[in-house]
Amino acid sequence: MTPPKKNNSLLINIAFVGVAVGLLAFLLRAPEITTPKLPHDDEHERFFAMKKKTAGKICVECHSPEGVYPLPEDHPPKYRCLFCHRRD
Ligand code: HEC
Ligand code: HEC
Repeated sequence: MTPPKKNNSLLINIAFVGVAVGLLAFLLRAPEITTPKLPHDDEHERFFAMKKKTAGKICVECHSPEGVYPLPEDHPPKYRCLFCHRRD
């Protein structure tokens, strides 16, 4: 009789492939998170030429609770605006 070890490793390989396919399917179905890019408009055009750090300090003049366009309450952490809101 052959040792049972070989059969087991085949089963493990099949299980592994199954899990990998399942994970891949899950990831492909997950909704894409879309972070709005820095808009090209009168409000924002000047920031494209600035250093990220300089520009980032000015954002909150408008994007704060007192500003003209407050951030939504569920906005993610916001220390470096341009790290997430890309300029291109
Ligand atoms: C002078 C005021 C002002 C400043 C300063 C400003 N914004 Fe805005 N921002 C607005 C207004 C008004 C809107 C909404 C209308 C629009 O999209 O332009 C907006 C919209 C946005 C949006 C949403 C765009 C979309 O597609 O939904 C993002 C992202 C944004 N700003 C990022 C920034 C960042 C990052 C900075 C700093 C580099 C910044 N803003 C500085 C006024 C400002
Ligand atoms: C960690 C990544 C991250 C950082 C840092 C960040 N944001 Fe955002 N921001 C997002 C995402 C993601 C959304 C889209 C949220 C949604 O649609 O619910 C968003 C949405 C916005 C919007 C659009 C809100 C609307 O109602 O249209 C504005 C304006 C904005 N961010 C400004 C800023 C400013 C200004 C800063 C810096 C003070 C900043 N963000 C920093 C990820 C980020």
